[in-house]
Amino acid sequence: MPARQRIEQEIAAAGGWISFARYMQLALHEPGVGYYASGARKFGPGGDFVTAPELGSLFGRTLARQLREFERILEIGAGSGALADVLTRELSCPYVILETSAELRLRQRERLGGRVQHIERLPERFHGAVLANEVVDAMPVHLAHWTQAGIMERGVGPGLTWADRPASGELLAVAQAIELPAPYVSEIGLPARGWMRTMVEHLEQGALFVIDYGFPRHEYYHPQRATGTLMCHYRHQAHADPFARPGEEDITAHVDFSALAEAAHAAGAEVLGYASQAQFLVNCGITEVLAEANVENALHYAPIAAQAQKLLSPAEMGELFKVLAVGKGTSSPLAGFSRGDRRASL
Ligand SMILES: C[S@@+](CC[C@H](N)C(=O)[O-])C[C@H]1O[C@@H](n2cnc3c(N)ncnc32)[C@H](O)[C@@H]1O
Repeated sequence: MPARQRIEQEIAAAGGWISFARYMQLALHEPGVGYYASGARKFGPGGDFVTAPELGSLFGRTLARQLREFERILEIGAGSGALADVLTRELSCPYVILETSAELRLRQRERLGGRVQHIERLPERFHGAVLANEVVDAMPVHLAHWTQAGIMERGVGPGLTWADRPASGELLAVAQAIELPAPYVSEIGLPARGWMRTMVEHLEQGALFVIDYGFPRHEYYHPQRATGTLMCHYRHQAHADPFARPGEEDITAHVDFSALAEAAHAAGAEVLGYASQAQFLVNCGITEVLAEANVENALHYAPIAAQAQKLLSPAEMGELFKVLAVGKGTSSPLAGFSRGDRRASL
């Protein structure tokens, strides 16, 4: 059954309204119909978007320099397996993947074979480094609509149309704490907060690295960003209509890193660092990794230089993408935050 039909059925069964978070869960992750759970090509030049690991090996080889001190790696949401492909060659420790999409688990097994172990649920107690690259932006978000008459929750009605209802519960409480000029619509990532709490509860010793595009709260809920950050990706075109092709395209929201840091702190972890992706990669030694490339051979060097440009340039991924690390029981500071740590801005 196509995703649109499946979603319409659920809206009808629910009496004519579902939350946007539920819509996003169905459109992206519902087994059989969701974008991540079905056969769409998704990654790379022939897909819908390119992530840092999909650009080439430079990102993974640089990240590996930060990860050497950890005894085990757990990657959440490994996509095509591109990052694991590099990291399992660079590091000698066990590598575990937790992936919600059965279709992507299969692709990862084909690519990585016995180099990784897939797990179905989080280990009771984990020691090591946890990685989530461009995973949190794909988690469902609720939509809050600040109006003159109060705070509404923006959901989805029959025919895939926007429909507002008075906000309630946790969404209302979180939205009330953010002061904004009405009218204003934005996302509130309740599932991402819950995910962070769960991750921290299962992390006994080590660090969780969240790498994604987003901002601290004061930039996220900026008065001028009055229509939020929802974005869809289809064949390398970005647009803002999440109802255009449910199940066939990516729907994302930027990450509120302050909310993640607070959730981690409340669950017993400390913030180990927060930096732009460019700063983090420079701190990890991306220039040394680049220096290993053969500058004399343009065919070899040009693609690596192009990767560096994408990863570091403030006009590309360098500034919009951030790295947040939270952890427990780690003694030495993380090299990736040795300079330009912006945790005070969270
Ligand atoms: C945008 S892709 C990023 C893939 C990869 N990390 C990369 O950077 O290329 C998001 C990935 O996260 C997975 N995913 C989304 N939510 C997840 C969750 N709660 N737990 C585990 N995997 C999740 C998706 O199935 C997909 O593999």
